[in-house]
Amino acid sequence: MEQKRQKSVKGFSKLSKEDKINWIANNFFQNPTLVQKELMSFWHPNAKQQKILDGFSENTLSNFVMPYGVAPNFLINGHTYCVPMVIEESSVVAAASSAAKFWSTRGGFKTEIIGTTKIGQVHFSWEGNYETLKAVFPKLKEKLIEDTLHITANMRKRGGGILDIELLNMTHLEPNYYQLKASFETCDSMGANFINSNLELFGKTLTHFFQNSSLFKGKEQEVNVIMAILSNYTPDCLVRATVECPIEQLGNFEGMDSKMFARKFNTAVNIARIDPYRATTHNKGIFNGIDAVVLATANDFRAIESCGHAYASRDGQYRSLSQCLVEHGVFKFWIDIPLAVGTVGGLTRLHPMANRSLELLGNPSATELMSIMASVGLAQNFAALKSLVTTGIQKGHMKMHLLNILNHMEASEAETKQAVIFFEKEAVSFSSVRDYIATLRNNNQISTLKN
Ligand code: MEV
Repeated sequence: MEQKRQKSVKGFSKLSKEDKINWIANNFFQNPTLVQKELMSFWHPNAKQQKILDGFSENTLSNFVMPYGVAPNFLINGHTYCVPMVIEESSVVAAASSAAKFWSTRGGFKTEIIGTTKIGQVHFSWEGNYETLKAVFPKLKEKLIEDTLHITANMRKRGGGILDIELLNMTHLEPNYYQLKASFETCDSMGANFINSNLELFGKTLTHFFQNSSLFKGKEQEVNVIMAILSNYTPDCLVRATVECPIEQLGNFEGMDSKMFARKFNTAVNIARIDPYRATTHNKGIFNGIDAVVLATANDFRAIESCGHAYASRDGQYRSLSQCLVEHGVFKFWIDIPLAVGTVGGLTRLHPMANRSLELLGNPSATELMSIMASVGLAQNFAALKSLVTTGIQKGHMKMHLLNILNHMEASEAETKQAVIFFEKEAVSFSSVRDYIATLRNNNQISTLKN
């Protein structure tokens, strides 16, 4: 008989982890004991480590495990990196590795840090004359910087801090709406906490400044701070990664000569610059690589993605993040991408695996990590387009898909070998692989019985 289920709960966050698991298991699953065991089976064997992981979020029951792999042989600015990647999609790490190897014999990836500036905003409304506001702004700016000196002290010692604060008049878009737009240098940290702490204090200073200034009277003394928060759009925290070689050094691909390959590849990139439908998939392929490194280093992949997509639309149309030029016998392929990442602060050093990822990369600075991520994104894009304009991607994808299904069916090494040969010419689907393995096992049983 169907169990009576209690789907809502009071005080859940106050329950112990075991009680939370029991409540979930008993109220949402057919087999509570199995679910309890399964959730607990993913706990870290070291209770201290598990406590660290639990501390990153709320109502934690267990850990969600993802594959942690590496793409070796990334030659970037003359250094060879073995890049950690956390991703659940087959073929991504293999594609990154193969593109890394390909370019390692053609000069590798070269990167340039175009900027490292980050942005934060205080949005406020004020009913008064803009000219008066403009006139007092230099004084206000001084006060904003002075009041945050205790917050910025350490960052200033490291060479960072507040770079500038601008006053923006936005009243043509929204009545009485103004903005303090501040720019920051946050050195090796992503800087979200640093920026937000400064901005919240800016908001307080702003309010007091108007209340206490003799220049303002009545309504003009009231500033209404709407919100103070960093912007994840960081077009000036930008890196360029490039690969290039003489066209003939590209070699032949699946019977296609290097000239034809370069031409087709270039057209494929141009299509992604022209057509947003293609651009979205094209950029998704780039983020396959970038997100995997962002995750492996416990950076904020939502921030990186939203910024990247906003940047891809900066001229009003969503376009490819990468560009290609085939000119004077040279194939050049590059990406410009904003990457506000950190190698200190946040979870980067608290998450035990992220800490190891950074060690694996030689404990890079934030700008070095930007270079690595941009190169991996470009490599991923190169690998995807190389497949798309030559064999198509299904060949490689289906092989990985087949291996995943075989794994799920607990196929032996011998069964896997036979299946890989068989499915070179057959379409891979869950049912076709299941039927093939069943037939194989059946035949084996019959021949064992006969012997
Ligand atoms: C699949 O995850 C990514 C690709 O679709 C990217 C692309 O089409 O460029 C292969």
